[in-house]
Amino acid sequence: MQTIRDTNGLRAARNFWRFGKETVGFVPTMGNLHEGHLTLVREARARADRVVVSIFVNPMQFDREDDLRAYPRTLQQDARRLEDEGVDALFAPDESVVYPRGTQASAYVEVPRLGAILEGASRPGHFRGVATVVAKLFNLVQPHLAFFGEKDFQQLLVIRRMVEDLDFPVEIVGVPTQREADGLAMSSRNAYLSAQERSRAPLLYRSLQEVAGALRAGATDCPALERRALRRLERGGFRPDYVVVRRRADLEPPGPQDDALVVLGAAWLGRARLIDNVLVDRPGPRAVAAAPAAAH
Ligand code: PAF
Repeated sequence: MQTIRDTNGLRAARNFWRFGKETVGFVPTMGNLHEGHLTLVREARARADRVVVSIFVNPMQFDREDDLRAYPRTLQQDARRLEDEGVDALFAPDESVVYPRGTQASAYVEVPRLGAILEGASRPGHFRGVATVVAKLFNLVQPHLAFFGEKDFQQLLVIRRMVEDLDFPVEIVGVPTQREADGLAMSSRNAYLSAQERSRAPLLYRSLQEVAGALRAGATDCPALERRALRRLERGGFRPDYVVVRRRADLEPPGPQDDALVVLGAAWLGRARLIDNVLVDRPGPRAVAAAPAAAH
């Protein structure tokens, strides 16, 4: 595996592969790799000839300086794991390579509306930072395919929207969330949990699953389901930020005709802010219409 720190080295590797008509799969990360990231890498390995992984803790997507400083940085350990996974190139640039003019003076990419709700409302500027760095990385790596976890569901939609609206020639592949045995979604931020908080943490996923189960069973009062989940989280020691049922395509509140939904939640547990989601296909009018009439 080559470790590349600058844009010239990256261009040289990418041109060499492209010249040989090899496909390039790309997994952007902020490092501190866990099984969730490695699943993305394996998916990329399975679908592309060459795999590039980036590790860059992107300052533009952090709304709090203390959060950026505390973010775990484990480059050497990460590089060993990527080497074991058969990755072709690790791109690990410094901040001055990605933002030579600094983050404040740099041009940026904004995805309006979708980037401003939910996570975007709780963390102002977050999705501008994500979209900007991913756009830059796409231009540098020029991958055929790029892989993102469904755990950050809103991020996945923001990136798909950016790629569609700005005509990036890259296919975005969403990969299902990897979970610990007790259901907790894998995340670098789980490292912030104390032992006691860690034992409580799966309640977030369970609460979202409960909402999803009720929707599948035909419940239609989304605000009531959301309120019940928020109360359950509060009783479990969380400080919930939101639990919402949204339309899967654009995260807008669902109408009665919408059946492809997602239940999204974000909640603080100690100093960790956890997010998760559950996809739901509720039995909509079409499913009811298609069902055979009951025999009398
Ligand atoms: O999901 C992440 O780790 C980051 O948001 C990403 C996509 C690498 C952009 O910095």
